[in-house]
Amino acid sequence: MKRIVLITGSSRGIGAETARVLAARGDHVVVNYREKRKRAETIAAEIRAAGGSASTAGADIADPGSATALIDGVVAEFGRLDVLVLNASGGLERDAAPDYAMALNRDAQAHLTRTALPHLPRGGRLVFVTSHQAHFSATRPVPTGYEPIAASKRAGEDALRAMVPEFDSRGITFTVVSGDMIDGTIIVRLLERRDPDAVTARRDQGALPTIEDFATAIADATIAPAPDNHTVYVGGQDFPLLTPAP
Ligand SMILES: NC(=O)c1ccc[n+]([C@@H]2O[C@H](COP(=O)([O-])OP(=O)(O)OC[C@H]3O[C@@H](n4cnc5c(N)ncnc54)[C@H](OP(=O)(O)O)[C@@H]3O)[C@@H](O)[C@H]2O)c1
Repeated sequence: MKRIVLITGSSRGIGAETARVLAARGDHVVVNYREKRKRAETIAAEIRAAGGSASTAGADIADPGSATALIDGVVAEFGRLDVLVLNASGGLERDAAPDYAMALNRDAQAHLTRTALPHLPRGGRLVFVTSHQAHFSATRPVPTGYEPIAASKRAGEDALRAMVPEFDSRGITFTVVSGDMIDGTIIVRLLERRDPDAVTARRDQGALPTIEDFATAIADATIAPAPDNHTVYVGGQDFPLLTPAP
């Protein structure tokens, strides 16, 4: 039986590539998008054309009603939900309200998780996608302009970590996948505009991981046992960013 995998924000970038990898491995992937329906449908169609199984589901996860409807809709359509990949993120949008980053990167992650939990079976998987800049934001410098996003994503991670005892009691494996700057993404292009020195300094240390590298690590985290600190790191070993952190 195919696992039913919901990936938030998989209409482009890392989420879309994660959908491709998991579908190629035999899962049914639900491609969630906020507004780019056409793009999400194209991703799902490409997956099906390659022999995989995919569907789409629109929802603004920062809206609690929409997020609840997303989970309920997947369960109603497929009868279950086996894996939730919390990938969607934002806050750098030009028109974003000041409290939007927290609403999306913290509150929505906790709300989606609480809503999904009763549906996830024993052996179910929960994966939270973040960046080293957010994960280490309490102890490491953050590129100019990215501070509110980093703080909100770390707050989201912390809110989920506080739920680990409940995940354990339900037999659900929780893994945080934290990535270095990922080459070719829109976020890195935006950072290059806002704080070019931070990106150049990082590039000077060595090649950045690719979208494929990161997506493969996220896909692997839906299968592999979680490390002791529930964290998988992708990239950044070649510069002094990574220190053991909870
Ligand atoms: N890019 C990097 O260098 C990097 C590095 C490390 C970690 N990460 C992490 O990887 C994840 C994905 O990053 P990315 O660069 O691929 O992001 P991205 O290109 O900005 O894509 C964001 C995705 O999230 C969706 N989305 C945004 N707001 C949403 C909302 N309110 N409700 C539902 N979906 C929403 C977007 O859908 P629409 O297109 O429909 O709006 C889009 O599919 C994030 O958690 C990020 O922190 C990224």
